[in-house]
This record gives sequence, structure tokens and C-alpha cells, in this order.
Amino acid sequence: MANYHISSDVLPTLADFSLPDELGFGEVKIPIMYRADYADGAWQPAELTPYGNIEIDPAAKVLHYAQEVFEGLKAYKVGDGRANFFRPLENLKRMNLSSARMCMIEIPEDIYMDGIGLMTAYSEAFIPNGSGKSLYLRPFLIGTRSNLGMGVSDTFTFMVIASPSDIYHAGHMKIQIEREACRAARGGTGAAKTGGNYAASLQSAQNVQRRGYDQSLWLDPIEMKYIEELSGMNFFILQNGELHTPMLNGSFLAGITRDSIISLARHKGITVVERDIAIQEVLTGIQSGAVSEIFACGTAAIVSPVSVIADADGTTYEVEKVDQLAATLRQSLLAIQERRETDPFSWSIEVDNKYNPA
Ligand code: COI
Repeated sequence: MANYHISSDVLPTLADFSLPDELGFGEVKIPIMYRADYADGAWQPAELTPYGNIEIDPAAKVLHYAQEVFEGLKAYKVGDGRANFFRPLENLKRMNLSSARMCMIEIPEDIYMDGIGLMTAYSEAFIPNGSGKSLYLRPFLIGTRSNLGMGVSDTFTFMVIASPSDIYHAGHMKIQIEREACRAARGGTGAAKTGGNYAASLQSAQNVQRRGYDQSLWLDPIEMKYIEELSGMNFFILQNGELHTPMLNGSFLAGITRDSIISLARHKGITVVERDIAIQEVLTGIQSGAVSEIFACGTAAIVSPVSVIADADGTTYEVEKVDQLAATLRQSLLAIQERRETDPFSWSIEVDNKYNPA
């Protein structure tokens, strides 16, 4: 039997909702939310309710010690079929790794699937159907125990909210190398999807945006020499016809889009190399032509081409080709995500009918 309750206000709330013409990314929220609490050593029955403020004890661990993890995944509905997810269990796997790193509770698969399944099935009429648009789902988990001492929470709230969205960062990106600050340390929480990593990137993002750039490019925290990632995206270069991307090392996120791009490129016969990539090698490669294209990828951004890399001293490096292989990979990935082409990897999963509104 389902271990959730659907509030009688959910359907009337949805009946009053309509999508605005302009979506943007993460601005518009579906007016319902899913919530499951963990207390007294057990998950309590979950609820689907209208979207609204949540009450939180001012001494909750999340507010002081940042016990929080989140995920981002998308539901698509292009064409006549049911809405579908893209590799949703990979997000759960990563969320539970993040959760373990932050000393939080494991989220059971049924609670997670109920959350994203109900949110998507109830929101199906509001999933934008243009290619590249989707329902961006944001599952998150917070430690709620009220205690100001350092230590782990024993009560948690898991929620799923959803935002009908456009691509995050569509268009060509101009990025700047961050030479001073670090986003995460080796052995730290960089590979966990926890808010603190993103908080640590904001100051640099603000600095580069004031100089007219879109994103900071983070270097390794030990030698400040090797490329790690952009603040919310993984990084790829096309070097002498091969695709190269930084090797996972525990201090940046193992992107699910990163993994999908690697598989997809190999499937197309492109050689993909995961290795430590020195920033200097990329800059020299742009100048010599060895590095002909650069792009970044992530769930929200899909595949975003990079047109310019700037150094902290103001030197700029213009990339020779912009959005060529990137466009091919984005189109192939989107075609699978949006079920317009066969999915050789079985990545796409339909939303279960059991979540349909009664
Ligand atoms: C995602 O791609 O889902 C992310 O988490 C990026 C986010 C910073 C918008």
C-alpha cells in the first residue's frame, strides 16, 4: 500500500495554475510539493500538498551546520507519450552518497520514486513540451534536529519541488579562470551535492560576472593547476579530435550528464579520455589550434558551449569552434531524453501510471 497521503487541496490548487509565457530556469514553481519526514528512527507517511512555506525550528541543524543535500533531474514530455525521467536512479544513488558524506539518512528508493513520480504525474499538464524545456525536479534533504551543539541530526525532512524550466545557461558561455579561491578541498565535500559547495562558489561567480563573464572555472585546490569544473557543470575539451574531461578525484561532482556524454561520445566512435588537464595546456592548445572546442555540461544546462576563456589578468582566449561537437552531443542527448530517438542505453524511464491523479 502506498505510504503517502494526497491532500484534497492538491487538485484544486493545480486547477488554478497556468504556465507563464516566459519560464526561465527555476523561477516558476509547480504549486504542489512532496514531503516525507524521518523521526523516531523511521520514515513517517509522506504527503503531497499545496506548495508553501515550511516551518523550521530556528535551531535546526541545517540552518547552522548546513546539513543539506540536493539533486536536480528532469522530467520530459515531448510528443504524445507519458512523461519520462532520465536516469533517475543515478540521482538517487548520488544523493545517498552525498547524504552519507554529510552524516544524513539514506533515502529509500520507494520514497524517492514516490516523490518524483507524484510530482511529475500531477504536474504532467504543465511540463513544457518544446525541445530543451522540461520539468526540473529538485529533491532535497535537510537535518531538522533542534540543537545548537555540533553534531548530526536524527530528524530529517525530504522534499521534492518542481519547476517547469528552460535550459539553464543557454547560449555561448564566456568563462574566467579562478586563480585565487577554491571551491572545495581534496577530502572535503566537493563531490557531494550539498549547498555549501555552491555557497563557496558564489563570491567568485559574482566577481567574474562583474567583469562580464558567465561562470568561474575552478582549478584543483592543491596546485591550482588542473581544471576541476565550472560551479554547476562539468568541463570538456576537444583536443586533436579527442574529447578530454577532468578525471574524477573527489573534489568535484560526478555529473550524470558528464557520464552520459562520455557514453554517448564513445557510442559515436569518439575517443574520450578522463585525465588531469592542466589549465596552461588548454590555453596553449587554444592558441596552437590543438584545442578546437570547449563545452560544459550538467542536468540543468545540458551541453553549453564555451566561446571565451579569460585569465585573471584580463588575457582572453577565443575558442576556434563554438557549438559544433557540443551541438551534436546536445541534440543526441536531448533526442534520447525527449524520446524522439531510440535509446541504446535504456536511460529513459516512463513515469509509472500508479502516480496518476485518481
Ligand atoms: C543541475 O544541473 O541540476 C545543477 O544542480 C546545477 C544548478 C546549480 C542549477
